[in-house]
Amino acid sequence: MAGEETHKGRDGGGVATAEESLSVTDNRTGQTYEMEITDGTVRAMDFRAIKVSEDDFGLMTYDPAFKNTASTRSEVTYIDGDAGILEYRGYSIEQLSEHSTYLEVAYLLIYGELPTKQQYERWEHDITHHTYVHENIKKSMEAFRYDAHPMGMLLATVGALSTFYPGSNNINDEHEQCMAAVRLIAKMPTLAAFAYRHNLGLPYIYPDNDLNYPENFLSMLFKMAEWKYEPDDRLARALDVLFILHADHEQNASTNAVRGVGSTQVDPYSAIAAGVSALYGPLHGGANEQVLRMLDRIGSTDNIPDFLEGVKNREERLMGFGHRVYKNYDPRARIIKRHVDQVLDVTGKSPKLEIAVELEKRALDDEFFTERKLYPNVDYYSGLIYEALGMPTAMFTVIFAIPRTSGWVAQWLELVGDDEQAIARPRQVYSGYREREYVSIDER
Ligand code: ACO
Repeated sequence: MAGEETHKGRDGGGVATAEESLSVTDNRTGQTYEMEITDGTVRAMDFRAIKVSEDDFGLMTYDPAFKNTASTRSEVTYIDGDAGILEYRGYSIEQLSEHSTYLEVAYLLIYGELPTKQQYERWEHDITHHTYVHENIKKSMEAFRYDAHPMGMLLATVGALSTFYPGSNNINDEHEQCMAAVRLIAKMPTLAAFAYRHNLGLPYIYPDNDLNYPENFLSMLFKMAEWKYEPDDRLARALDVLFILHADHEQNASTNAVRGVGSTQVDPYSAIAAGVSALYGPLHGGANEQVLRMLDRIGSTDNIPDFLEGVKNREERLMGFGHRVYKNYDPRARIIKRHVDQVLDVTGKSPKLEIAVELEKRALDDEFFTERKLYPNVDYYSGLIYEALGMPTAMFTVIFAIPRTSGWVAQWLELVGDDEQAIARPRQVYSGYREREYVSIDER
């Protein structure tokens, strides 16, 4: 060990073994510190012991946008971004999208295990019987401007739910936790559909308990004067698969928002409203909306080379490409791509699909994208399905929020039960002025 003195890291915890430790020499003092490596990580707090003097605050780690910081331990979702692997509770996304339903996946995410038949029936019954919302929620949605963005309506209304369920403030009460999970998963499609109908000036459609989760959502979106809405099985299944694919994605921006806000011990509705807000952003859930706008702008396959030049010159961004974690083809994009054709078989061809396929092909042949490991992400093709289903682009992110709710709830539950967590409050490196003299307004 180099240096004068060796300090033990991890809050005075166990001494690190030579193989599972990191030796850091502070060249300012010549001292060497040993830090334990666990699961490929060192603890940022261990750096605090590295000081130049007794009254020094100690070293911090600087990581804007959390590019290399693990904020939690989690057992919910596993991603290997280089290999293109996504698993919920250990089950591959390929198997789940092939054999499962969204509601079963939601149960898996929240409870950690696939349900037995009896548990599933109970779960489905509970979700189905909590799809209605208080009439005042409906009235408050009616008060939005006729052209309000449905995502803005959704995020405000999810936040408002907390006022209808004040008991949810008891965040450690198991019954309240279960009720919040059921209510949020059950009501999200209702709120999403109300926001959609509001935009069109159509009456809101109440849930139909005879239909399953995706069928009921389609009914609330599209039912008109008919006595009973009869959804096409293929469209309902495609929607259910999209729900499965979007259910969770470990510590993505919106989940981080839910956890960050949830760490204040606020009720789950308010925490999940923060997730909806984060999802609204064009670099996150808003990307699928942007993909369709981009394909519209490109207009024809002839214009693809010019568009790609613009991307390379940094005048444009190829929306639906690239991912913080995946440096390979996003496995969800591969599954969605297969379903695009099935949906278009029912709804008719889309000229945008031709542009999307050609654009993907050219980008994947281009060094600019291959060097940076930029591949299609989940949003590249999902917008095409939503559009084929008759959804306006403004609804795309809203539909994303429906299944992501189960992931947010699962992650929030994990946060609440995690003794290592505390209020999420990062540090800063202050780079502004200090100790300035106030100058009166006449003298400035
Ligand atoms: N088009 C063109 N260039 C890109 C793109 C893109 N879509 N994505 C990344 N790059 C380039 C960057 O300019 C950068 O190049 P440089 O190293 O020469 O400066 C390099 O690739 C690395 O990109 P970063 O922006 O550093 O990657 P980061 O991890 O911060 O961003 C993100 C990831 C936000 C998803 C980014 O790839 C992006 O903006 N994609 C388009 C938006 C999108 O599709 N978002 C959906 C993500 S999936 C989801 O939220 C569900």
